Amino acid sequence: KIYQASTTAPVNIAVVKYWGKRDPKLNLPTNSSVSVTLSQADLRTHTTAACSTSFNNEDTLLLNSSPQDVTGARTQACFRELRALRSSLEAADPSLPKLSTLPLRIVSENNFPTAAGLASSAAGFAALVRAIANLYELPSSPTDLSRIARQGSGSACRSLFGGYVAWQMGSKADGSDSVAVEVAPASHWPTMRALILVVSAEKKGVSSTSGMQITVATSELFQRRAEIVVPKHMELMEKAIKEKDFATFGKVTMMESNSFHSTCLDTYPPIFYLNDVSRAAIRVVEDINKKAGKIIAAYTFDAGPNAVIYFEEENADVVAGVLKGALGSLEGWHGREIKVQDIGEVDARAVQVLKEGVSRVILTSVGEGPIRTEES
Ligand code: DP6
Repeated sequence: KIYQASTTAPVNIAVVKYWGKRDPKLNLPTNSSVSVTLSQADLRTHTTAACSTSFNNEDTLLLNSSPQDVTGARTQACFRELRALRSSLEAADPSLPKLSTLPLRIVSENNFPTAAGLASSAAGFAALVRAIANLYELPSSPTDLSRIARQGSGSACRSLFGGYVAWQMGSKADGSDSVAVEVAPASHWPTMRALILVVSAEKKGVSSTSGMQITVATSELFQRRAEIVVPKHMELMEKAIKEKDFATFGKVTMMESNSFHSTCLDTYPPIFYLNDVSRAAIRVVEDINKKAGKIIAAYTFDAGPNAVIYFEEENADVVAGVLKGALGSLEGWHGREIKVQDIGEVDARAVQVLKEGVSRVILTSVGEGPIRTEES
């Protein structure tokens, strides 16, 4: 007999950034963070977890059909924690099949290019943990599971929820209070849109895992960010989301991204994630906001040059329209009718740099959390 369960899990893009670990083994962060979960119609991982006495006696993981190493500490931590939960259910109810002792066979597929630097580890570990929890029929809440997914990849803990999500850094040494919670569901502020500008980067930069360790070890600015800047931004951001106040949401999002990338520059040796194309995207967003006379668009960047630009549906023609005017008919606008806007007041050189450097666009929106699926 083969036992199996499937789920999808979304990508999330932080608006208050996680950068720095106080415990690299447990992935305990030096500051709290907030993210927006993106729609799974455009970006998601689908994962099936199965176990059977008939499987070879080792755990396996296929990602987009290619075998992955499961012996790493992060994957092992997730397997171990989930098996322990299943094992206590089995101990309490001897009629349950002993799934906790069987090898796991995990099959994952992304509906977006894994290599594009699009937070695939967040969706990946969230889906892995959710799929195994479904297979084991664990009564765990998304917050309970976020504690496990966090050990796979920090940002993954936020992908157990849809909408607007906070990862509370916690203070306990065992990490039991370092979990994700919902700030607001997607339905609270459903008009949030995100435009991802995928920048063709020629070489892979410093990974976030090692980048943040070097920042913690060498940057003085980082200290101030963790202790003063982020707590202030957390408060402003949670309030802005609750009040659907885009001007504040946008300003904090941009200042957060800038603060995070300053600590990268302040790292020694310095880490550069932004490139000329990223800076051109910043320039265009600044011009759009200047023209609007208020903040209607906000950029943010993770550990790479791709820009994510948040805006509200009512401003789609202005924000996405200006960018569509700049970028022309790249794929990814999903046939959505966007009126191309006059780009006269937007820096012409920045537009040219975007034209040359953006290889793909993804127009998406705030979305739901993991969804259980029937078939594999
Ligand atoms: C810049 O979650 O990828 O995207 O915990 O080492 O797996 P690990 O790091 P990861 O770091 C994400 C960093 C970020 C900001 C964020 O998502 O909050």
